[in-house]
Amino acid sequence: MKFFIDTANLAEIKEAHDMGILDGVTTNPSLMAKEGISGTDNILKHYKAICDIVEGDVSAEVISTDFAGMVREGELLAEIDPKIVVKVPMIKDGVKAIRYFSDRGIKTNCTLVFSAGQALLAAKAGASYVSPFIGRLDDISTDGLGLIETIRTIYDNYGYDTEILAASVRHPMHIIECATIGADVMTGPLSAITALLKHPLTDLGLEKFLEDYRKSNS
Ligand code: E4P
Repeated sequence: MKFFIDTANLAEIKEAHDMGILDGVTTNPSLMAKEGISGTDNILKHYKAICDIVEGDVSAEVISTDFAGMVREGELLAEIDPKIVVKVPMIKDGVKAIRYFSDRGIKTNCTLVFSAGQALLAAKAGASYVSPFIGRLDDISTDGLGLIETIRTIYDNYGYDTEILAASVRHPMHIIECATIGADVMTGPLSAITALLKHPLTDLGLEKFLEDYRKSNS
């Protein structure tokens, strides 16, 4: 399973990249705003800075909600760097825009997906990635991981190439369950990724190894 980090924070992206486990980055307008990035020029420059850190795909979201606007924005974003994946919302014009980009070899990430039907439409339009938001579904007492499982079955039934990008991941168990189900990618905060490192027996075992080494080498 590929690991994407869901942030526009350059320090966190660099930290995940330096661990050697980072396959890509997802951003959204809220994450850009959180970093204080505003204005088209600054936003485009920031995407470029992210692309310069990572080797893999970088999702950059359009803010238009009409077909012409999404095409205009998406083409501008795609010019920044070959790593850019145009992130398009799951609305009618978005589906049309995904088909447009897909026909022209521009990679897309269909975002704000909350149902299997939406995921099916994204695949039929030729999306490179589909982003079901599992954390936000869990937040409203709906089974986010169950949705990943259903989409996996549907895509496997018909051999769709669209990669399932489990988004809105909140904690390490989400990552483990996504890997068990067979999501192609997960995206989440750095804290969820580094939480995978933690085990008390690892800490205790290391402490004992170092103590025994010190005793026999003093
Ligand atoms: C997906 O690409 C989104 O950026 C993201 O995962 C949303 O996560 P959130 O629900 O934690 O805001």
